[in-house]
Amino acid sequence: MSKTTNQPARRDSFASSFGVLVAMAGSAVGLGNLWRFPYLVGQNGGAAFILIYLGFVILAGLPVMLSEFVIGRRSQASARSAFQKLAPGSHWGITGILGVICCVCILAFYSVVGGWGTEYLYKAVCFDFTNGDAENLKTLFSTLSASVWRPLVGHTIFLAMTAGVVIAGVKNGIEKFSKVMMPLLFLIIIAIAIRSMTLPGSGPGVSYMFRPDWSKVTSQTFLAALGQAFFSLSLGSCMVVTYASYVKKEANIVSLCAQTAVADTAFAILAGCAIMPAVFAFGISPGEGPNLVFVTLPHIFSQMPLGGIIAIIFFLALLLAALTSSISILEVVVAFCIEEFKMKRKAAVALVFAVLWVLGCLCSLSFGPLSDFKIIGKTIFDFFDFVSADVLMLIGGMLAVLFVGWKLGKKVVVDELSNSGKLHIPGWLLNIILFLIRFVAPAALLAIAIFQIHE
Ligand code: PFF
Repeated sequence: MSKTTNQPARRDSFASSFGVLVAMAGSAVGLGNLWRFPYLVGQNGGAAFILIYLGFVILAGLPVMLSEFVIGRRSQASARSAFQKLAPGSHWGITGILGVICCVCILAFYSVVGGWGTEYLYKAVCFDFTNGDAENLKTLFSTLSASVWRPLVGHTIFLAMTAGVVIAGVKNGIEKFSKVMMPLLFLIIIAIAIRSMTLPGSGPGVSYMFRPDWSKVTSQTFLAALGQAFFSLSLGSCMVVTYASYVKKEANIVSLCAQTAVADTAFAILAGCAIMPAVFAFGISPGEGPNLVFVTLPHIFSQMPLGGIIAIIFFLALLLAALTSSISILEVVVAFCIEEFKMKRKAAVALVFAVLWVLGCLCSLSFGPLSDFKIIGKTIFDFFDFVSADVLMLIGGMLAVLFVGWKLGKKVVVDELSNSGKLHIPGWLLNIILFLIRFVAPAALLAIAIFQIHE
């Protein structure tokens, strides 16, 4: 597709609606689904957690996603200038800056976990898990994460792959990559879920996923479910604002957001179905925690028929899912640098790469030599995770719904969602969306914030 010639630095854009959908779903589906969701389900009572999670996706996640989409598509600008363009002379631009800071914090630790994924894919290809007992695999993971060089190599490779796609731009990098990887990813996870659910003894794992045990639910479960909904749908970080700014005016925002949320939730449940039945079939505790994917799964693979091959396929899926997400996080920061500092894309990627490489190294070393260095009682890795997923994303989400619901107002929202009346979105649906954006999502976020402060 040719570039428009009247503006030399014309903004890149997605070429098709399918491209937008796979890029949005690519951002949403990631380590959050494959690494975080299964262990949170395991720690918080299985199906009960999933139901609370679904409630938050609908009541808080979708309104925030729609709001961010409206901001990005209407302004056609990156994080900070989007708010500034829609509310000139105000301080709303700070929301965009918070989003950029949030993305830097996420990618700093995300890249380390992506690096572990790279290392585990390598180990799977070498069939290193074929005779692993649980203790050995635990030691393997703690030795890897606590050592100095190997995780840094993994982090560097992962960040370099991310940067490579982002340098190629939106249409030629992000969209093309996601178009191939997302369908592949769904096929892989469906295949593994079928394998896992047909293992002898997998029945209790399947019912754990689908039969709620409310006795495990505490106030912590609600916090975890909301945080996970935001993390998994990539909200409150201006990621949706940035991608939406590359979306053409004809796209149907309501349907794109709904499809993204459905795809992300379906993938998370499939990931649960791939992991939980196998966890039960091999008599492992579902509440294993963040180690679940890196310790428990290789143990399961080592005992499963065809486990060596399945391990390769699983860690390949993990890596691809992590990459389609990390490119979206990097794009937020790169687009910000391009627009705010008038940098060229390559220079912006190089600068952000350098900063993130250093921060990622610090996160990685916080499992080893820097493990005693604490910020507000947390290691560097946990600090970045906490500040982004538990603080900045929730603040960013709250500001986005308040901005759209109360600052932009009903007329603008209806105009944007219906493409200036060209799309026929039923009035009752628009009213429900507005009600969710103005009242329900802010109330849910406020309640959780008060809860969290009281804990
Ligand atoms: N949604 C991604 C995941 O589930 O792994 C993580 C993520 C991507 C968070 C993009 C924030 C973001 F802007």
